[in-house]
Amino acid sequence: MADGQALLKARFGMELPGVEVPDVIAPLLDRRVVRRYTDQAVPDSLLDALLAAAQSAPAKSDLQQYSVVVMRDAPRIKQIADWIGTMDWIATAPVFLIWCGDMRRGQLLCNLHNMPHANNNLDTFLNTAVDCSLAMGQFMAAAEAVGLGTCPISYVRSHIERVSPLLGLPAGVYPVAGLTVGWPVFRRPVSMRLPPSIVVHRERYDDVQLENDIMTYDDRRRDREPVAPGGLKNNDVYPPREGVGWSENVARQLSVPERFGFAAYLRTKGFDLA
Ligand SMILES: Cc1cc2nc3c(=O)[nH]c(=O)nc-3n(C[C@H](O)[C@H](O)[C@H](O)COP(=O)(O)O)c2cc1C
Repeated sequence: MADGQALLKARFGMELPGVEVPDVIAPLLDRRVVRRYTDQAVPDSLLDALLAAAQSAPAKSDLQQYSVVVMRDAPRIKQIADWIGTMDWIATAPVFLIWCGDMRRGQLLCNLHNMPHANNNLDTFLNTAVDCSLAMGQFMAAAEAVGLGTCPISYVRSHIERVSPLLGLPAGVYPVAGLTVGWPVFRRPVSMRLPPSIVVHRERYDDVQLENDIMTYDDRRRDREPVAPGGLKNNDVYPPREGVGWSENVARQLSVPERFGFAAYLRTKGFDLA
């Protein structure tokens, strides 16, 4: 039987008295991304089962507005890794999945049935991203369950103007994230999450204690996994210094615009986002 409190302590840096962790969900508490893979192949028979599990995720109104491109060709995977430049483990993955939001299929279906597609809007964009993310999340859980490691890669969106043509993504289809898949060389330690008291609200949203609670979390996290110098965000804007906590590093990241042209790019690919 899993030691629930040990898993919770690893995940949150504190025990959560009264919480009982059923054995079947213990592996979910123990999950983590994997950023280095062995040479061992991932058989198609297994990959296709994991993709079937991913497709079993719920989808808004059963519209299933996402697609996934399976990359196995090492030079093409390396091409994307090289464009990104800072994530060399991507090229060690035998499989690279590109999870895409897909409005195109719905448009084609309307066309097929001689009806207008009247939902090219922000809600549909969100629905495509949510459907896609749920499927990717279910894929990750399934992959972990069989001992594979995965890591989402949002940086494919930082090179969207090169990644999209490489994959032949048509209008109405955009990458939400890449996902490296392979057999782990090692598993890094569990990364400490915000305590449920910050994230989980009961009946009403309430963050009056946020500042205090975040300071406590910063301290707890700093003790276990201090932000490494290499993990400091935007060193070119804010001088590196010792002792930066999680929340300050978040602020360092969020204070500088990221993927500034994404909405403009999506508009060129047929999304109205209205
Ligand atoms: C949508 C999404 C995009 C991500 N993009 C990247 C990425 O581009 N590169 C990377 O190394 N990790 C990426 N990650 C992984 C996160 O950095 C990782 O989940 C986080 O640091 C927490 O670690 P853990 O998953 O091991 O708990 C991404 C995760 C998500 C959910």
